[in-house]
Amino acid sequence: MDRLSDKVAIVTGGGSGIGRATALLLADEGARVAVADLSAEAAQTVAGDITKAGGDAVPVTVDVSSSGDAAAMVDQTMDAFGALHILYNNAGVDSSGDVVDGDEDDWDRCLGVNAKGTFLCSKFAAPAIESSGGGAIINQGSVAALVGVPNFAAYCAAKGAVVSLTRSMAVDLASRRIRVNCICPGTVFTPLMEPMLAARGGGDLDKGLELTIAKYPVGRLGEPEDIARVALFLASDDAAFVTGSIYTADGGMTAQ
Ligand SMILES: NC(=O)c1ccc[n+]([C@@H]2O[C@H](COP(=O)([O-])OP(=O)(O)OC[C@H]3O[C@@H](n4cnc5c(N)ncnc54)[C@H](O)[C@@H]3O)[C@@H](O)[C@H]2O)c1
Repeated sequence: MDRLSDKVAIVTGGGSGIGRATALLLADEGARVAVADLSAEAAQTVAGDITKAGGDAVPVTVDVSSSGDAAAMVDQTMDAFGALHILYNNAGVDSSGDVVDGDEDDWDRCLGVNAKGTFLCSKFAAPAIESSGGGAIINQGSVAALVGVPNFAAYCAAKGAVVSLTRSMAVDLASRRIRVNCICPGTVFTPLMEPMLAARGGGDLDKGLELTIAKYPVGRLGEPEDIARVALFLASDDAAFVTGSIYTADGGMTAQ
């Protein structure tokens, strides 16, 4: 219950899905949390849920692909809590299409949020984490960084960039006492994945779910909490010697 007492965390994309579950879990472990999301309403709702449960949270509205927003997110967190130790670069968007029919704007949006957003939030958070005595950055990758997922070209490329950036950041930021790791989740049933799952089933969501579950040796998809618990480990001192690692959390999907 108190693995993160005295810690301050930012969770981007904290208003939904994996980010929401992680914001709640980090707060439950004693962290003060900035719930940062493009949706002001979603950020407020999750921050309110944390506060109602006895935790400490502030909502922050941010577009992680905007330099000004990313800088302001860190400033607002420092103003609210006076320190920063943990950044979870979780905000992400999907893409559609293969490399032939993929749309250029879709590519820019997907790389802009997933890859550039990770760069920008880390750029402004790292000095604040260093000045707070060090901490951890967790980047959200995907199994799509490790295997080719059909009709997900831009998303695969963006998450591949996040994996490579993680290793680069781990090497560069170690001297600032910042550990940097990446989680590569398999399919978790969240609003992000619903269109992809429905498309896989030819418009039938249940069929898409069935086809997808068949790819998972554990016989189920992930829950947001499955990923949140990996993030908690990487954020905590239990992972004090862990940096530059890529944590696959996919029910064995990529082990086959
Ligand atoms: N769900 C999965 O199967 C799965 C698998 C692997 C990786 N991921 C990754 O996990 C992360 C979270 O995904 P999720 O499934 O929980 O999705 P979700 O759609 O439930 O939540 C994503 C959140 O990010 C926010 N967001 C979107 N663009 C943003 C931006 N520009 N700035 C700030 N916030 C923004 C959204 O408003 C939303 O609240 C993403 O990076 C996603 O790529 C998800």
